[in-house]
Amino acid sequence: MSKIIVFGNQKGGVGKTTCTVMTAAALAQSPFNLKLSIIDTDHQKSIVKARLMDLEEFSGVIPFDVYNYNVRTLQERIHELDKLNDLIFVDVPGKLDSDLPAEQQEISKVLLYADYLFLPFTSGNYSLDATLDYLRFVLKIRDQRAESKRPLRIIGFINMFRERSRNNRYLSGEINQIKQFANVPFMRNNLGLYTLFSDVNTVDSLYEENAVSNDQVNFVVWINELLKILSNGQE
Ligand SMILES: Nc1ncnc2c1ncn2[C@@H]1O[C@H](COP(=O)(O)OP(=O)(O)OP(=O)(O)O)[C@@H](O)[C@H]1O
Ligand SMILES: [Mg+2]
Repeated sequence: MSKIIVFGNQKGGVGKTTCTVMTAAALAQSPFNLKLSIIDTDHQKSIVKARLMDLEEFSGVIPFDVYNYNVRTLQERIHELDKLNDLIFVDVPGKLDSDLPAEQQEISKVLLYADYLFLPFTSGNYSLDATLDYLRFVLKIRDQRAESKRPLRIIGFINMFRERSRNNRYLSGEINQIKQFANVPFMRNNLGLYTLFSDVNTVDSLYEENAVSNDQVNFVVWINELLKILSNGQE
């Protein structure tokens, strides 16, 4: 049985796809070497397209498979993939369709399978309202699954953190609101805003054990914390 992981938030551009790719690419390779796959259910197909581009100039061993599925195909195939992998990452679209009831929304269908929802949060740009809206909806799914064998765990983290930003004045207040509203723990380590992360591809790992540069060190501590959450359930 694998662990099914979604980076989700209805807020666009918070790093769902970026975090999915860089986490998968790192954990699939040395020193972790986990058996994993990404399922791209987002209509933008960013990961499917990135993988095709990466393959044009790559001749090594592909570290993990990328599946181009819609939600229907995911429902049909996920049980099989669940048996074959240690981890499955599902990239999902952001926007909730407010005209549809919760159970008919595409992302809720995906979240019904997820073991972990990592919630990227960035400050500013009305991020808080969109995130609380999303959580209102996701909490229904967490409640629904609370007594099941595979409950949904939700963990927040700050993405694109900038040390000296005026937004930081508001950030801790916003995080507290999210924590209180949804009883969602946050990772201790943020992910910073670095060019290294914006240039991410689907074949190279950014994990460097002897990292010295700020961006690489940031990634190492962040992914180690994430892995700890996945391996022993701690937050
Ligand atoms: N930590 C980071 N450092 C630098 N750039 C980042 C970081 N996280 C994300 N980005 C950049 O921010 C932009 C949005 O990221 P991404 O596409 O991953 O967001 P998303 O939540 O998947 O968006 P969408 O809602 O459209 O699916 C991209 O240009 C990406 O390269
Ligand atoms: Mg995306």
